[in-house]
Amino acid sequence: MSLLEYMWRTVGVLFILLMQSAGATECSCELTNAENPFPKDKLMGIETSAVDCNQKMQSAKMSEEGALRLGLRQRLLQLQEDMSALEREDDGGLYGAVSLRIIELELAEILQLINKLNRTHDTHQSLSTKVNATMLQVQTELKQLEKFDHMQIVQKLEENKRLKRSVAQCQEELRATPPPPTPTPGSCPQGNPVRVEGPRTYTVTQYGTSYTYGSWGRDPRPAAGKENWYWLIPLTSSNVYANYVRQYTSLSSLIAGAGPKDVSIASGNPTTNTIQGPNVVMYGDALYYGCYNNPSVCRFNLTSRAITTAPLPQDSAINNKFPFCHLGACYVYTDLDFITDESGVWVAYTSAENYGNVMISEVEPGDVPRLGRTIKTSLHKRTATNTFMMCGVLYATRYVDKDTEEIFYSFDTKSGMESYNLSMRFKKMHTNIQSLNYNPSDHKLYVYSDAYAITYDVIFE
Ligand SMILES: *[C@@H]1O[C@H](CO)[C@@H](O)[C@H](O)[C@H]1NC(C)=O
Ligand SMILES: *[C@@H]1O[C@H](CO)[C@@H](O)[C@H](O)[C@H]1NC(C)=O
Ligand SMILES: *[C@@H]1O[C@H](CO)[C@@H](O)[C@H](O)[C@H]1NC(C)=O
Ligand SMILES: *[C@@H]1O[C@H](CO)[C@@H](O)[C@H](O)[C@H]1NC(C)=O
Repeated sequence: MSLLEYMWRTVGVLFILLMQSAGATECSCELTNAENPFPKDKLMGIETSAVDCNQKMQSAKMSEEGALRLGLRQRLLQLQEDMSALEREDDGGLYGAVSLRIIELELAEILQLINKLNRTHDTHQSLSTKVNATMLQVQTELKQLEKFDHMQIVQKLEENKRLKRSVAQCQEELRATPPPPTPTPGSCPQGNPVRVEGPRTYTVTQYGTSYTYGSWGRDPRPAAGKENWYWLIPLTSSNVYANYVRQYTSLSSLIAGAGPKDVSIASGNPTTNTIQGPNVVMYGDALYYGCYNNPSVCRFNLTSRAITTAPLPQDSAINNKFPFCHLGACYVYTDLDFITDESGVWVAYTSAENYGNVMISEVEPGDVPRLGRTIKTSLHKRTATNTFMMCGVLYATRYVDKDTEEIFYSFDTKSGMESYNLSMRFKKMHTNIQSLNYNPSDHKLYVYSDAYAITYDVIFE
């Protein structure tokens, strides 16, 4: 049996299991290609327990289990998409090594999620023994799958074509089933965000195209006299590190590259307390960024030039362990993503302990910053390309193609409601987005894309 066949069987089993959980009454993907007949009978018995699961899915405050379940469902959808992409990528028998690696990682993480679900107390009570048995079978298959040699895939091209048709067929049927209930996100006084328009500003910086990684923006809480200032930080060392902030007194001087004012953070690059990773923000005349080689939030005060730090929870991923990704590539050293919204500064990150799912922590101001409220989401960090926040709602983007990026996910920090069904697309000028952040004072997204500085307008209802 080929790797893809295994994948497909596995995904098939899980899909049906989860569609049932999500309240669909029936999903009958015919897996005629499988060597063993698909265990349809086994799955029939799930329906009763599915009602329970469905009620959990609908409860206002999502339980940990609900979040895991929703996350798992999304991971499987993602896996299926990635598999189709892998097929498209097939180049006469040579699959992209990066894609294979990502799918491998996905599978390993899906397995962890299943294990975690199994350990959850509620699951034991609500899932029937039959579901349990199915999970066990899936786990066994996943384990076998992980042992497969990559070369086996390339020898099974014909089979794969057939499997692809089955995937397409099942996708059709899944589309016909109603999606699980999701809230409409947003509690902005100006209404809910409806679309992203732009680009508005589109310019290469003073550095030309030398530095593909970096970030730029405008302080939402500027110091007196700096209301129209803009900041720019290209990662001048290895696409990873920077040791100074460049400021311009207006947008036109940034575009013209005129009269920049540099403030140095450290003399070396990289060294203790230099900037690591592109997704930094300026807020209240202080720069918030990931500290060099240290799982901490660094704050650089532009006035006093003092650096203060707040440690992230134990086990938080840094040093390119959980970057933002799409199927083709990951954005190096994007483990930490600093965010500004109406309420202040947040940091998005993850840990192995949280299965690589995004967590956000409020960064509380004070003489020394410290982390406040921490919220766990079901969003897997590697399936997103960036995150930002508006009015207490976290949003995530994903890569659609080289011309299009999509805001596909939201998490309302007030209600705890998550949604994966957003589709706010925007046009890219360049393939990659290395950093992206929302400025609550001018309602713009500031994007650094392959060395270009770009803004978009967020349009509200
Ligand atoms: C699931 O299976 C395990 C081991 O096979 C068992 O210990 C556990 O009680 C089962 N749970 C349910 C809900 O049947
Ligand atoms: C679920 O948990 C039980 C008891 O911890 C274990 O025996 C069983 O193998 C687990 N099942 C899966 C699918 O991980
Ligand atoms: C930065 O330093 C100045 C001067 O010491 C201080 O007044 C200000 O509150 C500091 N800003 C932050 C964000 O800590
Ligand atoms: C997402 O789902 C919710 C609830 O089903 C619905 O109200 C909302 O319109 C959906 N959003 C999109 C973009 O489809």
